[in-house]
Amino acid sequence: MGLYYLQDAASQLPALVLNPAPHSLVLDMAASPGGKTTQLAALMHNTGTIIALDVHAGRLSSLKNNLERIGVRNTITYKKDARFCTDLKTTFDHILLDAPCSGNFCVEPRFFEEKTLQGITERSKLQKELFKAAVRVLKPGGSLVYSTCSLEPEEDELVVDWALRKYPELEIVDIDLSVGDRAACVVSGSTLSPKPPMPGDSGLTRQAPRGFSSQNLSAPP
Ligand SMILES: C[S@@+](CC[C@H](N)C(=O)[O-])C[C@H]1O[C@@H](n2cnc3c(N)ncnc32)[C@H](O)[C@@H]1O
Repeated sequence: MGLYYLQDAASQLPALVLNPAPHSLVLDMAASPGGKTTQLAALMHNTGTIIALDVHAGRLSSLKNNLERIGVRNTITYKKDARFCTDLKTTFDHILLDAPCSGNFCVEPRFFEEKTLQGITERSKLQKELFKAAVRVLKPGGSLVYSTCSLEPEEDELVVDWALRKYPELEIVDIDLSVGDRAACVVSGSTLSPKPPMPGDSGLTRQAPRGFSSQNLSAPP
């Protein structure tokens, strides 16, 4: 048992960036096994409500076990494809889209043997579909964090770039953390986003809905 959850340092950043207010309504779109959900609940002092989704039943069990073990009381879990989160018929103050991704070649020894360009393209398409759904259920003035553990621009910078072009009401906001570097604004020779981050920016936000990225950028379909 125990009341803590081990996460590496980078994995802790998305929830810290989102920093949901106590008593707010939060959507965690791809939540299992729950490292970030438990962190969000802690930041909210177990108040408000987190709706935590995951499409895979087996992984949802891990999420439920972790929530119970840590003593999280403000979270409702659903086995659900988050592309259809408008079915929930509500909008959210804060959304975490910790998207399914191709993983990180720095820590996966067989990454280049097991991953394909086609897989990365498919993941990028899914990430954009999830992003579209997130924008639909984000309250005006709400905040959205998009994160992955992938280092592929197609899953990161290019997804965010695509979103900023598609949704002019979104804006990048400063991330007020003492760690991290400015996101890349040039990928394969192309300058990304209508409003490239300024020196010192390290994420995205958006205005009427606000949004952020803790890692990403991408190109239109
Ligand atoms: C990067 S992991 C999430 C890690 C989690 N946020 C954490 O901190 O423990 C991505 C998750 O997305 C889930 N997933 C994949 N496609 C999904 C979809 N369409 N809707 C909801 N969840 C999905 C996977 O089952 C997986 O658990």
